[in-house]
This record gives sequence, C-alpha cells and structure tokens, in this order.
Amino acid sequence: MPEPISNPPVRVGLCGLGVVGQGVWQHLDSKAGTLSQRLGGPVVPVRAAVRDPAKPRDIVVPLERLSDDPLALAVDPEIDILCELMGGTGLAREVSLAALGAGKILVTANKALLCEHGAELFLAACRGGGQIFFEASVAGGIPIIKALREGLVANHFPIIEGILNGTCNYILTRMEREGLEYPEVLAEAKRLGYAEADEALDVDGWDSAHKAVILAFLAHGIWVPLPRVRLNGIRRLTQDDIAFAHTFDYRIKLLANIRRDFERGHLAVSVWPTLVPRREVLGNVNEVYNAVAITGDVVGPTVYIGRGAGRDATASAVISDIADAVLWLRGRRGLPLQTPPEAEAACELAPAEAIENCFYLRLTVEDAPGVLAQISSALSAHHVSIASVLQRPGRQAGEACLILTTHRTNQAAMDETLSSLGGLSCVLADPQLMFIGGDLD
Ligand code: NAP
Ligand code: HSE
Repeated sequence: MPEPISNPPVRVGLCGLGVVGQGVWQHLDSKAGTLSQRLGGPVVPVRAAVRDPAKPRDIVVPLERLSDDPLALAVDPEIDILCELMGGTGLAREVSLAALGAGKILVTANKALLCEHGAELFLAACRGGGQIFFEASVAGGIPIIKALREGLVANHFPIIEGILNGTCNYILTRMEREGLEYPEVLAEAKRLGYAEADEALDVDGWDSAHKAVILAFLAHGIWVPLPRVRLNGIRRLTQDDIAFAHTFDYRIKLLANIRRDFERGHLAVSVWPTLVPRREVLGNVNEVYNAVAITGDVVGPTVYIGRGAGRDATASAVISDIADAVLWLRGRRGLPLQTPPEAEAACELAPAEAIENCFYLRLTVEDAPGVLAQISSALSAHHVSIASVLQRPGRQAGEACLILTTHRTNQAAMDETLSSLGGLSCVLADPQLMFIGGDLD
C-alpha cells in the first residue's frame, strides 16, 4: 500500500463567525482527522474576523485568533483559503475582491453577493488566478451546485424548480400545521439561525431570487438581473390561503422557477407563492428542508432534498467547498463554468406575454350586489378565463373573501387584470396572487 502523502497544512481564514462561521470552525476541528486523510494533509482554521471579538460565542476560539479587520484577513499571506461568511453586499464585496486580487481562493455562502456582483467576482478570480466556490449559497446542505456544474454536465435544462428558502418553508409548514400567522413563526426561525440578518430578504422572496439567479447562471450561463425576476414573498399569505390549499389538496410553497424555452430562445425566472399538489414531491418538502427539481434533456427529472438552512447543514456545504479549494491549490481544476458571452447570444429574457400559468386570486371585496359581475368583467376584459370561484364571509362586517382560480393565461394579461381590479372601489385590499402548480388546466 502506498504511503499517504502528507502535504503542509492548508490555512483557512473565516470572515464571519456567526451561525455559519461557527459551524465551519467547529466541524473543521471535529472532522480534522478524516479531512486530513482524505485531502492528503491538514486543513486548519487559523483566524476569523468578526465585528466584535469580545462577544460571547457558542464555540471557543482563542481571542488572539480573532480580529475585527476582515480586509486585513482577506490579504493575509498566512491564509490560503478565505471564507466570506459575513453576509451583505458592501464589505463582503470588498473583502472578496481583495482576497481574489491577492490570488486567494474564495469560498462564500453569500447568495446576495453573488447575485449582485457575481460577474465582477468571477472576472476578478480569472484575472488574479484564484477561484470561487459557493456550494452553500444555494439550498444549504444540498450539493446542488456540484450537481448542476458537474454531475449534470451532459444536459440542457428546460425547467428547474425549487423550494430555496428554509425560513419561508419553515414558516409555511407551521402556519399550515398549527394555524399560526406568519409573524409568530418568524421569531422561531430566527432563533434557530435560519433567517437572514434582515429577514425581509427571506419573507419577501429576495433570498430565493438570489439563489434562483445563481442556479440560472449555472444552468444557462447568464446573470439574470434581479429586477427581471418576477418576485413575490409570503408576507401577505393568511389562513384563508392555507385553508383553500388544504381543501383542494395543495400546499403553499414559495417556489423558484427557471424555465428555458429552447425553441423560442427564452429564459424566465420567477419566485412566487405557489399551490403545489400534495401528491408531488415538492408538495411534501416541509419544515426547513429545501428541494430542487431539475429536469435535464438527457437525464430526465431529478430531485434533490435536504436541509436548506442552519449551522450544520450550511457548514457541511462550506467544508465541501474548502475541500475543493484544497484540491484546486494542488492543481486539480474541475470543470469550467459556461461563458456568459456565448450563453447570452443563445437566449434572451422572456417577455411577460410568453410566460403562462394558472393563477389563484384572493380578493377582499365589498359584500354587495353586482360585485362579482364587476370582478368577472375585469378578468374577461383581459381574456382571463375563470376556472372556479369561492366566496366566504370576510374578516370584517360588509366584506367578502373571494377566491378565484383561472385557466392558463399569460402573465401580461394577469398584470393588466390586477391593475384593473386595483381601480375598482369594491376591491378593498391588494389582491393576493399565487401560481397554481401541477396539471390543473
Ligand atoms: P450571522 O450569524 O449574522 O454572522 C455574521 C458574522 O459576520 C458575525 O460573526 C459577525 O460578527 C460578522 N460580521 C458582520 N459584519 C461584519 C463587519 N462589518 N466586520 C466584521 N465582521 C462582521 O450570519 P450567518 O447566518 O452566519 O450568515 C452568513 C452568510 O451565510 C450570509 O451571507 C448568509 O446569507 C449565508 N448563509 C446563511 C445560512 C444560515 O442558515 N444562516 C445558510 C446559507 C447561507 P459578530 O459575530 O461579531 O457580530
Ligand atoms: N435565510 C436562508 C434560508 C438561509 O432561510 O434559506 C439559507 O440560505
């Protein structure tokens, strides 16, 4: 048997020692033997930068290993791999560019950073001779980046769908199971370390959109600008929506959808609350779990499920990146990403007229004669065909809760319909719109 090769220690610096950073430090320590054996030498967390070195933490890190200067850590010659685990897009961008400029390997879990500055960062990596690994940026512990980048290299991807935000899935699951409203559950998601520092990123759909943009980049080679992602969150969902879903055998999921129409050369990315049939796999992914369903033209449908947030699941993904980074340092280069200029020439972002869905529409309306007629005229004026109507008493006297589902219609028609409905005095609050998944129509 050949002697195991023992390379000098690879030194890891962590910018950020919060939920994720502490998990990474802890498991680099706890798995030191296995990692050293499998990677042909030790991988050691040597320093971390934080906002407040004196803050009490769940893990013990000697004070002399902590600093409050992430930029200095990024260019420290005694660090080989820099993990950006702070979050945000300001200082995180500076730190990442500094590390890449110094020729270091960057590992990041920061989807907002990649979504907003990915093109610039990958260029910097290319110029500085470094590399970026970002497995933890999408779907927590699920190795989805590796699957798309390497395992499915033989495929084109007409459709990728996913539950990409653990916090929202946790909230929706508990709203359904316990009849709670969303603010009550959000506090628990924060305590468990699932939510972003700014929870609006989670509940308003931005975090899922950041992740969808990264998946679209991996699958199609294009950085879709965030304003071109059709986006809505879960903030306005109520027990009325949950009750409808339950009655008709659906579950509400915040679903990211990346559709590529290869014939027309269109790409569309959306994140929207969606009624998912319970008989489907994604309809049974609950709590903090994420799932990504990828259909490849060669492989067919595939589904990946796992914890989408939290210390250990995310640390698992970051450590897999650190392992890839170690191999990169030793000359093992992996598959290159698609090049954006070629990909951009092959497709364009789909106009709203070209994207079709069945819709769920909940309206709070005046409970008065003629109201239903006004609503149905607004829909028919834009050629939106109603599939079903359900009316319940509203929360206040004199109000009704009206729930309509539509046949398949395009998003431009639905946008115009919503704008017409907004102009009716009998419509008392902003409509709640959801996509309907499955084969309803
Ligand atoms: P967190 O718990 O808020 O930790 C952030 C860390 O960064 C803290 O250690 C903080 O220092 C440090 N930091 C923040 N601003 C700093 C500054 N200006 N200078 C120096 N240090 C600074 O965040 P997290 O949940 O670990 O998330 C980190 C990243 O991972 C984010 O990009 C997030 O989107 C991503 N992510 C998180 C999860 C998850 O489940 N939490 C999952 C996947 C990806 P102090 O400790 O001194 O405050
Ligand atoms: N806040 C994110 C979520 C963390 O809840 O999914 C994982 O990216």
